[in-house]
Parts: sequence; structure tokens; C-alpha cells
Amino acid sequence: MTLTERRILLIVSGGIAAYKSLDLVRRLRERGASVRPILTAGGAQFVTPLALSSLAEHKVYTDLFSLTDESEMGHIRLSREADLVVVAPASADLMAKMANGLADDLASTALLATDKPVLIAPAMNPMMWQHPATIRNRERLQADGVTFVGPGTGDMACGEVGAGRMAEPLDIVAAIEALFSRATARLHGLRALVTSGPTFEALDPVRFLGNRSSGKQGHAIAQALADHGMQVVLVSGPVALPDPTGVEVVRVESAMEMLAACQQALPVDVAVCAAAVADWRPERRETRKIKKGRDESVPTLHLEENPDILATLSRPGPLRPRLVVGFAAETEDLVDNARAKLARKGCDWLVANAVDDQATVFGSERNEVRVLRADDGGVAEDAWPAMSKAEVAKRLAAEIVETAASAPQPTDGVPA
Ligand code: C5P
Repeated sequence: MTLTERRILLIVSGGIAAYKSLDLVRRLRERGASVRPILTAGGAQFVTPLALSSLAEHKVYTDLFSLTDESEMGHIRLSREADLVVVAPASADLMAKMANGLADDLASTALLATDKPVLIAPAMNPMMWQHPATIRNRERLQADGVTFVGPGTGDMACGEVGAGRMAEPLDIVAAIEALFSRATARLHGLRALVTSGPTFEALDPVRFLGNRSSGKQGHAIAQALADHGMQVVLVSGPVALPDPTGVEVVRVESAMEMLAACQQALPVDVAVCAAAVADWRPERRETRKIKKGRDESVPTLHLEENPDILATLSRPGPLRPRLVVGFAAETEDLVDNARAKLARKGCDWLVANAVDDQATVFGSERNEVRVLRADDGGVAEDAWPAMSKAEVAKRLAAEIVETAASAPQPTDGVPA
């Protein structure tokens, strides 16, 4: 996701973690955000205004602000001209000021004066984080609508071990992106349909044809899209996973049921087909259990083809989602096969992964994918590094929200 044209007011307060904020500024700038830094007196003990302004490519505002600052850029304007206020690190002291509405320096005044969302990355000694006063402050801040990222648990610079480490810069960036996409998805009222898991094709009341799909990737995508503020319907085959939170789940068994449930969920802005749908189903479903014959004969299975849900949803028409995303697991010629599949199915994006060593993909936590996008007659290809299925889901969700929000709204009766 890009943060181009996003304006971030970054408040750096006192704490050893302030050095990580320099990296945070670099990451935000790489993604196209503009960063206006405020450095508190405590923060200035750990990083210099010069380091911060060099990385931000912007003047640093300090709590010793001068009259010139006040006439050029008052604290009210400073806090209102941002799209988001980020406090990293947020010290116990600054959190206490925020929770109580104190405004005795530039940082706390800007925080009190802002009408924009606030994200904070606390960093402090574990005893301070666990102190009843800090717990009270954090509950108040959460009730006030402040979003938290971290802190993590681990070795602290002070030599103690516990919760209080500031979230890593890339995790803070991910939280910032999620905040922006939540706002975008809500603004546009975006709806998504996700298929997940295997399908079971019944032979008789006790037997079925199925496959080994765990549903982990599809469920993670449904969760990530909901976390990004989309309204999500998850149509799932039989899986042993808990339902994602904040998602409407429709449980199905067969491909025919899955297709019907998907069509019922339309219209949606986005469809993500992550289910491993069985290609065939038995021609007949016996109403009674097929018995072993006395003559020892072996029954013959007659199969018929299942509908291709991804191809059906991708077909042009008034109900075609603005963005349709398919998945492909390939054992050979990954890119060529994936390109052919993208064209054959008619979807917009295809997430392809190699399954040379099947044990590492099916049911595993990690995934290494290539994302192919149909693009003005051509195909753009993006290779993502190996990451957890949850991370693939988060990154995909961020890109989906951005694309769906900017895609033109289909007009009545005209395919998007
Ligand atoms: O053709 P293949 O099964 O490899 O295609 C995989 C993609 O197509 C996945 O996105 C899967 O969810 C979707 N699919 C489908 N309905 C089918 C078969 C595959 O939606 N019957």
C-alpha cells in the first residue's frame, strides 16, 4: 500500500525507543507520506532535531517553539492539517497527559487540539506499563478512540524483561496503513465476498469426495478485510477453524451450495476466491449408504463437472464485482500457468504459489506468493517474499481496499 499524500504529524516523546522513530520516519517517507515531526524535550534527549528533520525533510517543531513558529504555524493548524497523529514512542508521562487532557507543551497541546485519528506506540519500563495508573490511562485513551500499536514483550534497554518494548517501525507502518484503509473502506461502504476451505461432494450419506484444504489462507483474508473496515461475507466449506471476528459466515458443503451462497451474497465490490473447490462431483448422490455387494463387485464412480465459481463471478454483467481475485497453486511453470489461468478465469488478480513441497503450503502457516494483475491488456507481476499467511492476507487486504476504493463505480447495467 502506498501512503502517498498522507500527512502524518509524528510526535516523538522521551525514551530510548526514540531512535527507532528515525527508522519509522524513513519507512513512512519511502511510502510517500509527508511527515511533520514534533519533538518533546524528553525526546530531544535521545534524538537530535537535526536527525529527525533530515529524515523527515521537514522542519522539526519542539516544545520550545518560538513566536515565529506560532505566527507561521500555530499548534491548532499543526494538529489539524495532518490526516493522522502518530505518537512514537509514547512515554508513560505523555500517555498520562493525554488521558487527563493536560496541555503544557507543544506535543500535549497539539494532541488536545486535534480533530484527527490518533495512533500511539507506547514504550516504557514493564513495571510502568503494568502500573495501575498506566492501566487506567490506557483504558481512558482507548475509550477516547485512541488506537494502540504494541507494546511488545522482550528484553528492555533498562535490563528488565517484560511488556513495554515499542512496536517495530514496520508494525507501526502496518497499523497506520490499516487505519487509513479502514477509513477508506468505511467511507466507500465496501463489501467483500471470500470463499475458503474445501468442498465435500457427497457420494452417499456417509461418504464424500474432498481435498486437504485447511481454509487458513481464506479465513485470514476474510479477517484482514474485516479489520480493514470492509463488510465481509465468508462462504466456507467444512474447516476446523474458528469463525473470523466481525465477519458474516455462511457454511456450505458442496461446490453447488458454495456457488449458490456466493450468488446470494451479491452485489459485492470485491470477491476473493480462496476455496479449493472440488473439480468434480458424483453424478448421483445415493440416499442410502452404498453397500458392499455380496458378489464383491467394486462400484464405479460417475463424475460430473462442478461449476467454476471464480469464472462465474468474473463473468461480465451488472453483478460483477469491481475486483475479482483468484488463487492458483501450481506444481510447475508457476508464472506461465498462472498467466493462462488469469486469462481463462477472467478475474482481475491471481495470487499464485508454487507447491513443489506440498507439505509447506497446505495447512502450513507460511506462504510465498506472486501476484499477477490483468493490466490494460498486459499482466503486471509482483513477487512477494515468504511471509506468514496472516501477513499475505494483511498485505492483500490493504491493496484490495485501496484498489476497490479507487475503482470506478459501475453504472446501472454496465459491467465494471
Ligand atoms: O483451476 P484451479 O482450481 O487451479 O483454480 C483455482 C482458483 O479457482 C481458486 O481461486 C479457486 O477458488 C477457484 N475455483 C473456483 N471454483 C472451482 C474451481 C476453482 O472458484 N470449481
